[in-house]
Amino acid sequence: MQGQDIEPIAAAKPVIGEEEIEAAVRVLRSGRVVQGPEVAAFEEEFSALVGGRACVAVNSGTSALQLTLLALGVGAGDEVIVPSFSFAASANAVRLVGAEPVFADIDPDTFCLDPDAAAAAIGPRTAAIMPVHLYGHPAAMDRLQPLADSHGLAVVEDAAQAHGASLHGTQVGAFGSAGCFSFYPTKNMHALEGGMVSTADPALARTLRLLRNQGMEQRYANEIVGANMRMTDVAAAIGREQLKKLPGWTEQRRANAKALDAGITTVVTPQVAEGAEHVYHQYTVRVHGDRDAAQQRLTEAGVGNAVYYPTPIHRLTPYAASGPSSTREWDLPQTERAAAEVVSLPVHPSLTPQEIERIVAAVNTLEVTR
Ligand SMILES: Cc1ncc(COP(=O)(O)O)c(C=O)c1O
Repeated sequence: MQGQDIEPIAAAKPVIGEEEIEAAVRVLRSGRVVQGPEVAAFEEEFSALVGGRACVAVNSGTSALQLTLLALGVGAGDEVIVPSFSFAASANAVRLVGAEPVFADIDPDTFCLDPDAAAAAIGPRTAAIMPVHLYGHPAAMDRLQPLADSHGLAVVEDAAQAHGASLHGTQVGAFGSAGCFSFYPTKNMHALEGGMVSTADPALARTLRLLRNQGMEQRYANEIVGANMRMTDVAAAIGREQLKKLPGWTEQRRANAKALDAGITTVVTPQVAEGAEHVYHQYTVRVHGDRDAAQQRLTEAGVGNAVYYPTPIHRLTPYAASGPSSTREWDLPQTERAAAEVVSLPVHPSLTPQEIERIVAAVNTLEVTR
């Protein structure tokens, strides 16, 4: 194949199909555009993805996390245990409610919160644990949930990247006090922007509904201080169409991951914990050698790739001075190692078999480091 003939393979590809466009136009023509019937229907339908729990739609995944912490009463003086190897939104939500994130290390196989590290991070101010189902792999909820229960802590699942993932048959978003999802365009399903909270607690669901809408259930009868974090009906209508397509896309992501697993011989491919059903939001390998050179080689071969996340949250400016008072330094060796080694390859459902072959071929030209 000639260089100029090769279309670069996108690292991620949001889908906006005809059904989504028609749904958006239908809502726009209806005149009911904010938190109307489409939002109610989306909440009802999304519930099937989280073991039938109540769902509350909001305007982003970050809002979902922030409102959940507020609704749980987490605030100033409280600590929340969070992995540092995540998107900054996980810790930002904690800071936005006035609480302090306490960073705990990850399991090097799954890239998710290590239950032993979480246990060691529990202190007198701990109010909640926030496991992140990173890259679409479920965190070790079978150990984290009992740990939280034994200390009377809330569990807020950050499921922003893991729509439909499960562990031992339980869907993410159906474990903790609440599960928080994102519908950002590159996620496994989207609503242009949006978020969803799932919870088994009706009182928590009601508080979330109040918080997202200025504290009102009845118009102008404000019960508590709230924000405007409502979802639009256009977003919900798009989300409903995406939700219908999610099972097929998840199957395709898994098939793509299987083909990459089978073909790649040079770098460390993703591990899946026993009992886990991964949904491959990202297909993330570890490069033990020169990662910059590996990324350059992939880019030259037209294979989109990205590092999620090159700087662990505890090293980002807002958190850099937040370490334990004795040392001011977090001790997170697996987090540091992962941040230096990971590269995510395309795994999205729009990939063709030929593109998968090209990805495998390009990765297999890298130095063997596994
Ligand atoms: C792990 C994680 N948490 C939270 C978020 C926040 O979601 P949103 O971008 O919808 O606010 C994201 C996504 O961006 C994420 O990847």
